[in-house]
Amino acid sequence: MKLTLLVGTMTGTAQLVAQELELVWDDGEMHVETLLMDQLDSSVFARDGVFLLVTSTYGQGDVPDNAKALYEDLKAKRPDLSRVRYGVFGLGDRTYAETFNFGGKRFDELLGELGARRIGERVQHDAASGVLPEEMATQWGEGWIALAKGAAEAGVS
Ligand SMILES: Cc1cc2nc3c(=O)[nH]c(=O)nc-3n(C[C@H](O)[C@H](O)[C@H](O)COP(=O)(O)O)c2cc1C
Repeated sequence: MKLTLLVGTMTGTAQLVAQELELVWDDGEMHVETLLMDQLDSSVFARDGVFLLVTSTYGQGDVPDNAKALYEDLKAKRPDLSRVRYGVFGLGDRTYAETFNFGGKRFDELLGELGARRIGERVQHDAASGVLPEEMATQWGEGWIALAKGAAEAGVS
């Protein structure tokens, strides 16, 4: 099974989470690749396998700067993503009550509009909670990766 982690980050926290998940999941049976969203466009979703978006939130509930080109390209080109299966691990801070975790939410809504199907629930890490995002991710990831393997085996990715 192939899994691509797509990282949207401003100060590297989401990247740390992705590195931790890759370390746990990449075991020979599963091939994990982590890509920073910088320079990516919507063609990345033509890759084989499932996707996990790991992205924070900035500004007025925006996706991080390094995710903007990918987000805008998806919005402009609106490719058919009905063969795509994905998960979302969002990073945010509840101090920003009005726009909590909107980065992950925006990607989730857009991918859904384009026909992609989410695996599991969208996760929302809260930086104000005191829980380390990489710890939350590895715990949550145990259940998610089982669902992802099921989706891949069903041959719909
Ligand atoms: C200037 C600034 C704006 C932010 N805006 C939001 C926001 O609107 N909503 C939210 O949930 N978190 C917001 N955050 C919190 C970050 O998303 C959070 O700290 C995250 O863990 C950062 O991850 P990163 O290092 O991968 O970018 C903001 C943080 C900063 C510094």
